[in-house]
Amino acid sequence: MQEMNIQWYPGHMTKTRRIMEEQLRLVDAVCEILDARIPISSRNPDIDEICGTKPRLIILNRMDMADPTAIQQWTDYFKSRGMAVVKTDCKSRRGINDFVPAVRNLLRDKIKKYEEKGQVGRPIKIMIVGIPNVGKSTFINQVSGRKGAKAENRPGVTRGIQWVTVDNGLLLLDTPGILWPKFEDPQVGIRLAYTGAVKDDILDTEALACHLMEMLWQRYPDALRERYKIDEAPETDGYELLISAGRKRGFLLSRGEIDTERMARVLLEEYRSCKLGRFTLELPPQEA
Ligand code: G4P
Repeated sequence: MQEMNIQWYPGHMTKTRRIMEEQLRLVDAVCEILDARIPISSRNPDIDEICGTKPRLIILNRMDMADPTAIQQWTDYFKSRGMAVVKTDCKSRRGINDFVPAVRNLLRDKIKKYEEKGQVGRPIKIMIVGIPNVGKSTFINQVSGRKGAKAENRPGVTRGIQWVTVDNGLLLLDTPGILWPKFEDPQVGIRLAYTGAVKDDILDTEALACHLMEMLWQRYPDALRERYKIDEAPETDGYELLISAGRKRGFLLSRGEIDTERMARVLLEEYRSCKLGRFTLELPPQEA
């Protein structure tokens, strides 16, 4: 199968990091939004180092698209590492109301200290971070009731610091911190491409679909059997599976060959729109 290596030129990485480190001083906690389908690939591994000892909250977003069992495994994983976890579907608002109580619980000692110092009502401030397209703006809009305004979404963009009120005494930095994925690992780029976080037009759709087919055949074979009526040996490679599915769908070229390009586009579209099911492509280290 064709090797895939997705290149990405984050450009403003150093600047982004500097801005984030400056803004960290202004906040009580960092809230990192992840794509629940790919919690490893949608994460920047430097985040732990950047955040230092700041209290941390993980949002497992797009829960509507991920495997519920895996969501629970990831919740347990992050909790065992001392982070608060909230599961959300920002489209339907599911889980959104859990955010404020989770923040207050995470920061309860700090809030108590503020109160002991007589600073009752001192606002709690949170920075939202995440890679592009993970749902940061939608999340901020949902938790705050803010409408429409999409914060500038390019790495390293600066402007005046502003706060969005979420709840009495809880503020969010209105510009989310843009993290860069760890593209040095080719698998990360490929998984971001499966989910549509990396645009198709820079990719070889067929090669991408072969990789996805193979991975799904290993993890969720029943879903593929049911949708594409394929029944190949467990170790069948992605291209063979694509041909088989294309044949079953009747995607033929004029010479009678299978139109694998078309099948590739269909697979990616059906995966991204969850027509195949809710799949998580990455499990926590101990579960993998
Ligand atoms: P960003 O600021 O991190 O770059 O991401 P943004 O909020 O712009 O969200 C990117 C896309 O992801 C949006 O779709 C948004 O609606 C969608 N999205 C965010 N959270 C969820 C979620 O929990 N579940 C699902 N299914 N989708 C989510 P879009 O295609 O850009 O716009 P639209 O389809 O909402 O019109």
